[in-house]
Amino acid sequence: MSDSPLVLGFETSCDETAVAVTRGFEVLSNVMASQVDDHARFGGVVPEVAARAHVEAIRSLTHAALREAGVHSMDLAAVAATQGPGLAGALMVGFSYGKALAWALQVPFVGIDHMEGHLFAPRLEHDEYQPPAVVLLASGGHSQIIHMRDWGSYETLGATIDDAAGEAFDKLARFLGLGYPGGPAIDAESDDGDPRVVRFPRALPDRPFDFSFSGLKTAVVTYVRRHHAAGTLPAMPDIAASVQEAIVDVLVTKTLNAAEETGVPTVAAGGGVLANRRLRVRLAEECDARGLRLFLPSPALCTDNGAMIGAAAAFRLGRGESTSAEAEIDSSRRLSES
Ligand code: KG4
Ligand code: ZN
Repeated sequence: MSDSPLVLGFETSCDETAVAVTRGFEVLSNVMASQVDDHARFGGVVPEVAARAHVEAIRSLTHAALREAGVHSMDLAAVAATQGPGLAGALMVGFSYGKALAWALQVPFVGIDHMEGHLFAPRLEHDEYQPPAVVLLASGGHSQIIHMRDWGSYETLGATIDDAAGEAFDKLARFLGLGYPGGPAIDAESDDGDPRVVRFPRALPDRPFDFSFSGLKTAVVTYVRRHHAAGTLPAMPDIAASVQEAIVDVLVTKTLNAAEETGVPTVAAGGGVLANRRLRVRLAEECDARGLRLFLPSPALCTDNGAMIGAAAAFRLGRGESTSAEAEIDSSRRLSES
């Protein structure tokens, strides 16, 4: 895609200000400013703090993305930004900034679905990633299994009925005193743990593709309180590894159920939770055992980034689509099925 148009992509749906320059599915630069330190003292993302931090960071990050890519804003053929889902105030910063920049440069603007960005992320590193595929999307706000029949043609096979997988990691890490953000904290704590020490419940075995994580949360809280009072609490790494295994097990089992049911040859995945090392290993092992091809983005492209927005934009622009200057953010946007 070396003759593909240069796109500047913005992602500001949550707590990372991310900007990238992409050409088709090639990443020329991918920079971000994480707000982890701003939110850590509150133990979670504070929407107003996130929006303000995006405003403060976006201009200099845009310059950094252009500089690192070695391009000038005049070279850009389009600007893209996440339209939703996400935190309204946070989305508004990248979306408005992107629209204004596109207008000033007189180039098309494309509003991108955040989950479609995650869905396109594996394509940035794997030319062979092609539909039909079953795609696991697991982030802080969403957990879904998608049957991608073709690029742009998605059927949601299952989703969480309560907490998202990342949310479960975050809430449980907070309860266990492991800090914020919870996913990386549990991932790290599990290093020296044995996942077989506690068998926490795996929810919804009778609903093949849906998830539920709130029961796990209750089970962990009850277990820890009881064993703490009795003086029989296992070591923290063992608890963390057991919690991680319960979440990973459900995500892997249901994704592979979906691959089997649909008969696709390919499994792909994206979203921050896919940075989890145990999840990556388990998916690779299970896909290997079944002769399925697996496409995972590298961890930095699993968590929110601007390059995935550029990749989805390349696809949308290639179809002749763009977004009008009157368009607004949609904080509860759902991946459209077609
Ligand atoms: O996709 P993402 O960066 O932002 C959203 O769209 O929400 O996902 C963030 C989520 C957080 O809940 C975070 O705890 C989780 O991804 N996460 C992880 C890991 N790294 C990030 N969860 C488990 N293990 C990790 N290593
Ligand atoms: Zn995300």
